[in-house]
Amino acid sequence: MTQPTTLRLAADAAGAARAAEILRAGGLVAFPTETVYGLGADAANPRAVTGIYEAKGRPRFNPLIAHVASVEQARREGVFSRQAEQLAEAFWPGPLTLVLPLAATSSVCDLARAGLPSLGLRLPAQSVARDIIAATGRPIAAPSANRSGHVSPANADHVLADLAGRIDAVVDDGPCAVGVESTIVALLDGAPRLLRPGGLAREKIEAILGVALAGAPSQQNRPVAPGLLASHYAPAAGVRLNALSLQPGEAGLDFGGRFSGPAPIFDLSPSGDLAEAAANLFSGLRTLDASGARRIAVAPIPGSGLGEAINDRLARAAAPRP
Ligand code: TXA
Ligand code: MG
Repeated sequence: MTQPTTLRLAADAAGAARAAEILRAGGLVAFPTETVYGLGADAANPRAVTGIYEAKGRPRFNPLIAHVASVEQARREGVFSRQAEQLAEAFWPGPLTLVLPLAATSSVCDLARAGLPSLGLRLPAQSVARDIIAATGRPIAAPSANRSGHVSPANADHVLADLAGRIDAVVDDGPCAVGVESTIVALLDGAPRLLRPGGLAREKIEAILGVALAGAPSQQNRPVAPGLLASHYAPAAGVRLNALSLQPGEAGLDFGGRFSGPAPIFDLSPSGDLAEAAANLFSGLRTLDASGARRIAVAPIPGSGLGEAINDRLARAAAPRP
């Protein structure tokens, strides 16, 4: 039921009700979360989920995160170990996705999980997101609301730039507060694993669990978290990392006021604040890409806290393109 024109809905009670109605009918609605905008569909409806893959141009093997409105709803979908309970208690709602064994009572369809026996679950902090999900009464599958391989959307205009005419509606609640996607932790058999660094710093998760997070297993056969595919988050311009100054033809993605000169410069955080830099990251990449520069030079950014996720996304933006 994707419409040729995409509705822009307000992030109020009427907008949430309309969004939920479209989702229940099998449509596609982009909605804000505190990390990035998600492209939602009924996770129990394989035809609706197919629409997500089509609108994004996404490879079918990528599993989708199921978004829920409460911890009780999450418990019907995934099997919570003691560690999963600890992390949900400490960080939900918030920018953390837990990959758990699929519960026997789960309603999420095979296609949304790409056939995996596990499920990524996320309880977002954005209240309009939870209102929409609660009003549908089912889990909502939602990848980031961008064309596959593009930069993730941090506001409703970014969503429309990629998906206008391909989805039914976008709920506009302004810019996202966190700005990078959720941190993904797998709690399957064995040690907890960090599958993707994101909007919740690793250090905070390790402090609650009392153990270091293991890394993602190797990707040889199938992607464990395809956000981990090398080239991803790619602007049209080339990207040069750890730049100490700008070269001719380059635009500058700055951190802490290092760059100067006539070229377009977007400073992620003039004061050197990593949370501010994360919130500005995808807008900065899109803005500099739109300047028409041949290449985007990126200033060095510390790797601790949210810097791990920022550097991960920038490394993917700079990776060789397929
Ligand atoms: O912040 C976020 O997580 C955003 C907002 C919209 O919630 N969503 C998001 O979704 O980033 P997406 O599809 O762009 O990235 C989800 C990542 C993918 O890399 C996918 O492979 C991984 O989560 N994933 C989902 N289910 C998984 C599973 N069962 N096992 C391993 N990885 C999984
Ligand atoms: Mg994505």
